[in-house]
Amino acid sequence: MAGMTPEMPDVVARVEDATLPEMRHVDIDDVYLHMDWLLRSRATPMDLYNRWEKQNWSTQDLDFSEDVVQWQAMQDGFEGFRVELQRSFTLFFVGEQAVTDTLSPLVHAAPDEPSRIFLSTQLVDEARHSVFFSRFFAEVVGIPGGLSEVLARLRDHVVGGFRTIFDRDLVEATEAVRRKPHDYGAWVEGVTIYHLIIEGMLALTGQKFLLGILREMGIMPGFYAGFTAVARDESRHVNFGVRALMEAGIREPALLERVEDTVLRVLESACRIVAAPDRRFAVGPEEVPPNLRVDPYGVRNFSLVSLTKRLRVVGLSEATCDEVIRRGYAYYNRAWEDYEDLHGEEHPRRYFDRLTTATG
Ligand SMILES: [Fe+2]
Ligand SMILES: [Fe+2]
Repeated sequence: MAGMTPEMPDVVARVEDATLPEMRHVDIDDVYLHMDWLLRSRATPMDLYNRWEKQNWSTQDLDFSEDVVQWQAMQDGFEGFRVELQRSFTLFFVGEQAVTDTLSPLVHAAPDEPSRIFLSTQLVDEARHSVFFSRFFAEVVGIPGGLSEVLARLRDHVVGGFRTIFDRDLVEATEAVRRKPHDYGAWVEGVTIYHLIIEGMLALTGQKFLLGILREMGIMPGFYAGFTAVARDESRHVNFGVRALMEAGIREPALLERVEDTVLRVLESACRIVAAPDRRFAVGPEEVPPNLRVDPYGVRNFSLVSLTKRLRVVGLSEATCDEVIRRGYAYYNRAWEDYEDLHGEEHPRRYFDRLTTATG
């Protein structure tokens, strides 16, 4: 593959070739540099397939023994923080299960053979991600039982916007593809929700902040290695989706409107999954060390830039991307106001507002 891609920066090559044990030391920001590089190189489905063969990993090779000890130790003095982490783990676990269950219609209805071959590898990846979380919950978090039992217990803990996208929009879009596998527009809509919104916006945002915190804390090496391997898998998935939609727009320019309509339709729910107004924070920014504070404005910006950067490559106009950002800001603001109404306390963003006022 080396001849195909003349100038791969060292940092990208390190992510590309990292073994599972090496993943323990990879920074998520470097995985995102890798992802951006793939985006620029316009990797084809077969390029991505070839990477999959080399980047395969096994959940059975992960060692959670240090994770167990560290997770239990957090009960003393870090319980609020532990609750926050467990919420993030739960959303990912339920999310991985939902995407595992809904991908097969998109595989079956793929418009060409290379896309079907790539999507078959993604189906295996998503199953592996579900198993990864199931092992982690059983062995570290201490919620045992089969996958379905665990999920039945955890599903009650997921937030409102999450249900709208994962239980309704994603299921409806992929069901439409299953019923009409020759309807290319339905497939494009499915890929928009699956690869652009759920993976390219939501998963990338969650991964960045979750792995960033664990790296700062220097804990949970088994989870960190496995979840960074998950993130590299997502790098292939997201780039497949961007290229598939770009090609759809070239073949049938009207389909770009379908992408745009779909994004604008689900954007508010997506922002509410990230902002999660119905979930009261177990620990405030003042109560954690400065390097572990998560700035809601940073999260908002990262999520919207993640999405619009890819919409541009797909072929949507600058004006559309500006509109996505403008509406996104309004949706986040509304969610933050809802948080204060629902819980009768200030949203953590106020803490960051005061920092800005104090220094500026
Ligand atoms: Fe996944
Ligand atoms: Fe994925």
